[in-house]
Amino acid sequence: MTLLDQIPVAPVGQYPTPLQELKRLSALIGGARLWVKRDDLTGLAFGGSKTRSLSTLFGRALAEGADTVITCGPTTSNHVRLTAAAANQLGLKVVLVLRGSSCGAGPLQGNMLLNHMLGARLVFAEVDSLADLEPAMEREAHEIQARGGKPFIIPGGGYSPVGALGYVGLMQELMQQTAEAGVGIDGVVFASGSGCIQSGLLLGALVAGVRMPVIGLTINRRVDELEPRIRHDVEAAAALIGLDGHLPAGAVQVLDDYLGPGYAVPSEAGIEAIDLLARMEGLLLDPCYTGKSMAGAMDLAVRRFEPGQNVIFIHTGGTPGIFSYAADLSQQRT
Ligand SMILES: Cc1ncc(COP(=O)(O)O)c(C=O)c1O
Repeated sequence: MTLLDQIPVAPVGQYPTPLQELKRLSALIGGARLWVKRDDLTGLAFGGSKTRSLSTLFGRALAEGADTVITCGPTTSNHVRLTAAAANQLGLKVVLVLRGSSCGAGPLQGNMLLNHMLGARLVFAEVDSLADLEPAMEREAHEIQARGGKPFIIPGGGYSPVGALGYVGLMQELMQQTAEAGVGIDGVVFASGSGCIQSGLLLGALVAGVRMPVIGLTINRRVDELEPRIRHDVEAAAALIGLDGHLPAGAVQVLDDYLGPGYAVPSEAGIEAIDLLARMEGLLLDPCYTGKSMAGAMDLAVRRFEPGQNVIFIHTGGTPGIFSYAADLSQQRT
């Protein structure tokens, strides 16, 4: 029994998610063998890796006797939608504090449509940055307490040491599934935003006592901001399970080469990757997270890794976002 086994986990996902080889894509582009870890199939409301951080965060919320969870994010947030779904599954009330003034004009789409369908209480806050949503969450928490309720605040994106612990299992699954397939892991590549997924994967590698390139491709922050943040977060999460999370130089690998014009703004390479994966593999990616990171994974498979090596791309989810980009994705391309 380790300290990790004593971390409370709420049963909000279905694991392990599948690991599939992208044979047709690899044959087309050359370079290393590409595999996809299907975390878009975590079994909760259109899925996504964020289900994993929610399992440890809801585990903590339930252990503390919470009856309501509060979280925040942009209206495009996958974490926000999954929080609403997890709360419903566990019978908790949920408040979503969203950046903006309202749902906007026109028919609801993507994650916002799902937030409505899930029946979450929506609170809008017109603020300059996502960090400024925290006071609004605190206000909601005070109001709930004043009414005799027991609120639990989940940070935006699930970004927290407890959330990072949820991704240790992702690394364990990857190691087991690749061993079963008779291949090693030469690199793991995925979209990195707050850095929570990346911190948890690095912690998972530490727990397993292995070293491998865990390469986060940024979708909003720049390398000089994200790298030290992840280094710090791995230490904080490791401390929760009694481990020394200090990482050697070079262990935190972050690239911002595939970010394109900025967060949630489609890049040409990302749209091309979406087209290619849909047509070659029947795999659906989105313009905000997985399209851009797949463009990066393909580039790295060809330029950085060798033929015969194995590179795992984590499909972190975000599929509902596709429908918010109908104009970008429906243009006729050959
Ligand atoms: C689909 C998807 N992929 C990747 C990320 C980035 O995860 P993190 O913020 O933990 O780095 C997010 C964050 O919201 C996401 O929704």
